[in-house]
Amino acid sequence: MQKRIALKVNGRPVQIEIDIRESLLDVLRDRLQFTGVKQGCSVGECGACTVLIDGVPVNSCIYLAAWADGKSVTTVEGIAQDGRLSPVQEAFVEEGAIQCGFCTPGLVLSTTALVESGKRFTHDEVRRELSGHLCRCTGYQKIIDAAERALREAEAASE
Ligand code: FES
Ligand code: FES
Repeated sequence: MQKRIALKVNGRPVQIEIDIRESLLDVLRDRLQFTGVKQGCSVGECGACTVLIDGVPVNSCIYLAAWADGKSVTTVEGIAQDGRLSPVQEAFVEEGAIQCGFCTPGLVLSTTALVESGKRFTHDEVRRELSGHLCRCTGYQKIIDAAERALREAEAASE
């Protein structure tokens, strides 16, 4: 069964005809060419497919595209600012938190959501908040360092 949905992707309005069984991951990657959304496990275990829906991190492989009707979706392609890496992306680069990069878009988006919450997080809370992301290259320490750097810098910038 087909359904026409209207959503925003990275701030731009999109209207698209979907099969109601299609995942948001498939629509974003295969139909709209947002290939920064990675496909890993396809069962909600690895976090590679994470996007923000109305600012909240979601595993797009287990989220139906139909549910995104009327919502605002952010992929990693949408967070650069004026053609420059976002502060969270910069923090990942500065901390060397990227190896093959497959897990990076999802982690950057989840970290962006933490930063945008405006809350303070302890070290253990950051680890817990990012625990839904698997890094096959196992660079976890640098990833946590990058997230904490991004949070620290955002806090300093708001003072
Ligand atoms: S591909 Fe979606 S959680 Fe792994
Ligand atoms: S950097 Fe390779 S999977 Fe995380």
